[in-house]
Amino acid sequence: MSKAMWGGRFSKSTDEMINEFQASINFDKRMYHEDIAGSIAHATMLAKCGIITDEDRDKIVAGLKDILQKIEKGNFEFSVDLEDIHMNIEKRLTDAIGEAGGRLHTARSRNDQVALDTHMYVRREIVAVQKEIENLQRALVETAEKYSDVIMPGYTHLQRAQPILFSHHLLAYFGMLSRDFARFEGVYKRADIMPLGAGALAGTTFPIDREFVQKQLNFDSIYTNSLDAVSDRDYIMEFLAAASILMVHLSRLSEETILWCSREFHFVELDDAHCTGSSMMPQKKNPDVSELVRGKTGRVIGHLMAMLTTVKGLPLAYNKDLQEDKEGIFDAIDTVKFSLAVYAQLIRGMKVRKDVMKKAVTEDFSNATDLADYLVKKGMPFRKAHAVSGQAVHDCIEKGIYLEDMSLEDFQKLSPLFGADIKEAISPETCVKNRNSLGGTSYKQVELQLHAAKDLLAAE
Ligand code: ARG
Repeated sequence: MSKAMWGGRFSKSTDEMINEFQASINFDKRMYHEDIAGSIAHATMLAKCGIITDEDRDKIVAGLKDILQKIEKGNFEFSVDLEDIHMNIEKRLTDAIGEAGGRLHTARSRNDQVALDTHMYVRREIVAVQKEIENLQRALVETAEKYSDVIMPGYTHLQRAQPILFSHHLLAYFGMLSRDFARFEGVYKRADIMPLGAGALAGTTFPIDREFVQKQLNFDSIYTNSLDAVSDRDYIMEFLAAASILMVHLSRLSEETILWCSREFHFVELDDAHCTGSSMMPQKKNPDVSELVRGKTGRVIGHLMAMLTTVKGLPLAYNKDLQEDKEGIFDAIDTVKFSLAVYAQLIRGMKVRKDVMKKAVTEDFSNATDLADYLVKKGMPFRKAHAVSGQAVHDCIEKGIYLEDMSLEDFQKLSPLFGADIKEAISPETCVKNRNSLGGTSYKQVELQLHAAKDLLAAE
């Protein structure tokens, strides 16, 4: 094995197993684009400040561009002996252009380099995640519009509670995703701070120009403390927190989807192309996508816990523990993007069983609140009306009927305030229509929500 790039003070080369253990190339190679862009900006700044010659800069920039092409074409062999993406690229550059390559790392440490690459990578991926959030939001809006007249039971305690519009239910997830989108916006701000120029931990003796690099790489601001610059992993913890909350939302949607397509609920039918069968039971059609998304939520939450725990006891500044930031966030990025993408497809392919949902709100007592509200509107205090409605439900259960099956006489035995309009007042359509308070489930309010959702998507 050849000597490591930092091998000067060592009299032995690194043990092979240790070498493999400490290498990060197998996962950090995905930051090659950021590493090269960062090095080009750094070399340009070094020349501008007279730290290297323009000739060396030109050689470095051309060499790096060549390496970028090679990696993109799959013509670059990554070596575990070179530990990480930073040294793989630098070594290859020096092999190709000679001495000038050895000048690239002037006034820089891998500690601020790795921080720079990760900031840039996370920043880019936040935008990609937000695109997928939007795509799922669009799928929800399209489906809510397609089934805008469908009434379903709303639940509390997983017991039928009050009739609601199916579109109202879907748009609740739209709201969650809007907050997720905004959370990632916040993470972006914290990823948009440039660490380069911090050196290993204390800055550098060279007359560098950090503002120049900041502009080259389009960063909003610069870390004002070099120790903080190389030690900060807040933006990674924040990304994982935002990703965990997002996955929790998808997991709740998954749980509902799984329930809805069970024979017990039978509210929706998933597209055959989005389900799988059983190797033994010929009749099975399983909602694997939803189950997997629910399952993967645990993984993303796990990455958040791992990162919090890793950083928790670390003294300043860089410690190798921090290399553990990457696998978790890379996996979280992949998982979140993939989960959002498959979910948008699943929602778009979902067929809603309007008749089954309608039956579910007709053959139950989810209109009991409306019965009470009817009496209140005729002058009865709500507490008393609640008791009368409860009595009506009790009587119906005894007789094996529903509220809408009661005769006007039966109603009037409970209260003389009941009139012929009671049947109409407790129909599922009326129950929905009358919940016209701001943010309620009425056709009008849901229409307003849909408008607002579309406006938001147009603005994002
Ligand atoms: N591969 C390392 C990482 O991902 C790069 C930084 C190494 N710095 C050091 N002093 N060993 O964190």
